[in-house]
Amino acid sequence: MKKLVFATNNKHKLLEVSEMLTNIVEIKSLADAGLAGDIPETAETLEGNALQKAMWVYERTGLSCFADDTGLEVAALDGRPGVYSARYAGEHCSFDDNINKMLAEMDGKTDRRACFRTVICLLESTEGQAAPTPRYFEGRVDGTILTERYGSEGFGYDPIFMPDRFAVSFAEMPLDVKNRISHRGRAVAKLVEYLKQ
Ligand code: IMP
Repeated sequence: MKKLVFATNNKHKLLEVSEMLTNIVEIKSLADAGLAGDIPETAETLEGNALQKAMWVYERTGLSCFADDTGLEVAALDGRPGVYSARYAGEHCSFDDNINKMLAEMDGKTDRRACFRTVICLLESTEGQAAPTPRYFEGRVDGTILTERYGSEGFGYDPIFMPDRFAVSFAEMPLDVKNRISHRGRAVAKLVEYLKQ
């Protein structure tokens, strides 16, 4: 089975994506690849950050790898926080800090539409030849920002995001249901389609 290093320090993401790729590729963590430390993500687009994170692994290991970058785009906030979703409430803030800031900014707003967008960047090892050509896979889910937290599954903004056609937040869903409909799930499905070719 093909092996791919997933360039993430987020254990929830590693679990989500590993579940989706069972029997398709063998996912290796950063630790499996002998890497540790923070991966830089200083680009101004999701594509740029996904490439930067994947390149960080590729340059150190030469192994085939991928990275994802996700943004929460809120209509009433003109698409913010977008690519800055991780640091929305400031450098080194927690998921909880971000949710608190979002609930405060959205207080009283009637237009609560939002979407999550994920871009995956795949770099396939060229065994010593020129740098690999990056391949991108995108997934998106539309939904609503809730007025308070619901549920305790998942991570990030999950407790305050309700996907369209569901009456529960991402944090109230079992992982397999979230994976079927989520931004990351949809991007991974496209990655799987490509890997199966
Ligand atoms: P990242 O840069 O891809 O890690 O994503 C940026 C931020 O978006 C994360 O710090 C989370 O706050 C949020 N995020 C990413 N994926 C999800 C998700 O599946 N559910 C909720 N929040 C997410």
